[in-house]
Amino acid sequence: MTAAVRVEHVTKRFGDLVALDDVSLEVEEGGVLGVIGYSGAGKSTLVRLMNGLEQPTTGRVLVGDAEISALPERELRRVRRDIGMIFQQFNLFRARTVAGNVAYPLRVAGVSRTERDARVARVLDFVGLLDKAHAHPEQLSGGQKQRVGIARALATSPRLLLADEATSALDPETTADVLALLKRVNRELGITIVLITHEMEAVKAVAQQVVVMEAGRIVERGSLVDVFSAPATPAAARFVRSVLHDRPTGATLDRLRSAHRGRLVTVRVADRPGFTATVSDAFAKRRLSNELVFGGISELGDRSVGALTYALDGPGAAVDEALAELRGAGIAVEEEAAG
Ligand SMILES: Nc1ncnc2c1ncn2[C@@H]1O[C@H](COP(=O)(O)OP(=O)(O)O)[C@@H](O)[C@H]1O
Ligand SMILES: [Mg+2]
Repeated sequence: MTAAVRVEHVTKRFGDLVALDDVSLEVEEGGVLGVIGYSGAGKSTLVRLMNGLEQPTTGRVLVGDAEISALPERELRRVRRDIGMIFQQFNLFRARTVAGNVAYPLRVAGVSRTERDARVARVLDFVGLLDKAHAHPEQLSGGQKQRVGIARALATSPRLLLADEATSALDPETTADVLALLKRVNRELGITIVLITHEMEAVKAVAQQVVVMEAGRIVERGSLVDVFSAPATPAAARFVRSVLHDRPTGATLDRLRSAHRGRLVTVRVADRPGFTATVSDAFAKRRLSNELVFGGISELGDRSVGALTYALDGPGAAVDEALAELRGAGIAVEEEAAG
């Protein structure tokens, strides 16, 4: 099976700065890959390599059968018709109408007027903006602008859609609409999507596979549920924690420590029957005072992931025993370090 995108041992330097450091990945045809990580991790550089806007310092990038990192400009233009891209700031032409924006890549590709009109109508209908064809971008809301961006990206019937922080400028409700549209783009049109984001909502709504990037490297990869329910590296755990908001940190942790007696213990949610009973039994049978003081649970696909933090008070040995019992039952337990 050919991958939709294959990145092979790519390193990208800007002068002394290593933006990507030996990155390899594959995106399955028809799949959605979420690329997550904090600002500066190298995510945008990675997508820019996928449409030939940047060239790797070393390594190769293949899109379908084309080695996009080795094509001369003229052929690059042809291959780019198979690749749509959407951006955080939408990048629409302000002087053109919605229809004019969507028609633009078709003009560049030399598509005839009749064919252009037909395709513009078809993609605007798909994104639900046929009635705005003659409006100008400034008359549209942020969500509508991004839907125009998506329509423009779809105009040339690409096989691959690259989305770089496409919902990061939108409010949560609009974000949900745009994500639902991206899901339709993938499911109904069969277009492969690479979704770059630092937002949990975006990843969990559409991605099937994820890679976590930090400082130019992929530090973790796997199915969405696996990476979020059991991050294997400290870097991924930190990211997951920050987006799930399931563990107390910083000032919150300090406040919890001063407000509660005893030890603060975080139990990772295990998605199985009897989980909460197992936890409360372990505490209750040792007569530990246990108060739930913090927690966050998110739905990912058909699973729940997250954590619950308890203030446990009682004899030290009894607390240790309870924690050992939970660990023995396969439940991950971490003690929040004393302040
Ligand atoms: N054209 C460029 N010239 C110099 N440095 C760049 C350029 N593009 C990106 N960088 C640097 O590469 C690193 C990765 O940036 P970027 O790919 O934009 O990360 P992200 O999208 O994850 O925030 C950053 O340190 C950034 O400053
Ligand atoms: Mg970026």
